[in-house]
Amino acid sequence: MTLLRDRAPDARVFKGTFLSPRGSTHSEAGGSASGVSRLRTLADVEVFDPGWLSVGPDGRILALARECPKDARHVVDFGDALVMPGFVDTHTHLPQYAFTGLGDLPLLPWLETYTFPHERAFCDPTLARARARHFFQACLAMGTTTVMAYGTHHEEAVHIAFEEARASGIRAGIGLVLMDSHVPADFATESGKSLLAADRLAACWDRAGNGRLRFVVTPRFAVSCTQGLMEGAADLAQRRGLLVQTHLAENKDEIALVRELFPKAKSYTDVYDSCGLLGKNTLLAHCVHLGADERALLQERGCVVAHCASSNTFLSSGLMPLSRFLEEGMRVSLGTDVAGGTSLSMLAEMKAVGDAARLRKALYGEEPVKAPSLLSLATLEGARAVGLDRHIGNFAVGKAADFVVVDDLLSHPLYPRLGRNRQELGQQLEQRQGQTLATGESALERLSRVISRPHPDAVRETWIEGTKVFSRKG
Ligand code: GUN
Ligand code: ZN
Repeated sequence: MTLLRDRAPDARVFKGTFLSPRGSTHSEAGGSASGVSRLRTLADVEVFDPGWLSVGPDGRILALARECPKDARHVVDFGDALVMPGFVDTHTHLPQYAFTGLGDLPLLPWLETYTFPHERAFCDPTLARARARHFFQACLAMGTTTVMAYGTHHEEAVHIAFEEARASGIRAGIGLVLMDSHVPADFATESGKSLLAADRLAACWDRAGNGRLRFVVTPRFAVSCTQGLMEGAADLAQRRGLLVQTHLAENKDEIALVRELFPKAKSYTDVYDSCGLLGKNTLLAHCVHLGADERALLQERGCVVAHCASSNTFLSSGLMPLSRFLEEGMRVSLGTDVAGGTSLSMLAEMKAVGDAARLRKALYGEEPVKAPSLLSLATLEGARAVGLDRHIGNFAVGKAADFVVVDDLLSHPLYPRLGRNRQELGQQLEQRQGQTLATGESALERLSRVISRPHPDAVRETWIEGTKVFSRKG
């Protein structure tokens, strides 16, 4: 990368081992513009080992170089750590964080047993504020700098969630959950009323917080929405230029129920399409069980599939064919889908995604998806999914300095017994020729290990727009 902007006198410089996904051949519609395989494009991660990142006083990247800038006054040295772009979690649920890990049920009974009672509690504003504060702090502690989250159906609780997101400094898209059928009676808000509440929240919060906040139109899923509510939601999204998020084809019983509820629709995907909900700003979580015609329709509309592998395993939903989707040119990003997913950690989600792809390789001979591609999906592709790739997603000049400092040493099997830093470990371990690090491991091997063995304390620091928003040391 080259220096394109003048270095401001008070630019800050950060030293570390930087990993920056490059993939720039992705066309607007989702296909590969250059004809290069999507999997190859995604695997293209530039390594700066070591690298020096210069950040201007406005929090934008001035340069990422392989040498220390001559005029650098003060260098923040991240030492042994890997530095990656901030993670983009494109699908999760704020009110479900409190029961993460509980339940051993498939989707529909799991919603009844665990999800609805926890979401109901958000009618209490004090609880809603405390939970939102914990949630955003937990996201930052996991290195997530941008998150797309479902709220609940309570207008006040969603308002509070936005206030807490703004205070935390995170980039967040948050939705008022729209539901008017097949949910407990107190959840089924009259569609006109809930659309008016959504409109008020959008007016107040979309692009607020210096542009870091987005209001997201959020029909829960086709099971719990009437056609009229979904059409109203699509109209609101179009009128205000809002993002849309919902669930699609997650579980076979859910799909059968949608077929019963919408007998005239050609498919589950067609239910959303006939309401006008599918477009370039639409994020569809799961998409585990889609027919070829549904995949083609999603591509035609330019929608994004938010792949939630941890949740797909935990709720026994199935194995989404990620490599097939990518090779077909589908836009794909990643989501933790807590509490269907078992952690807010995008490192853990990357592991779940890689493991699911390996299983599909064993079962169906599909291409595995390796560490560099997983990092691209969790950063640059996530940024693309939410329309922010000109601003975040890698260390390109001019983008916001959103990054995460990862202590991959904690994932080393011999740490701390054999050494407390990379050099000590290196002295103890045989060095392999031609590799640069003291332990003989390349930066991409280290990335692969930190994804395969994510440590709960892996994230040392999280930065957004050049400001530290989380430090493990406090
Ligand atoms: N489908 C409808 N609601 C939900 C939810 O809360 N979690 C998941 N995983 N799927 C859903
Ligand atoms: Zn979900």
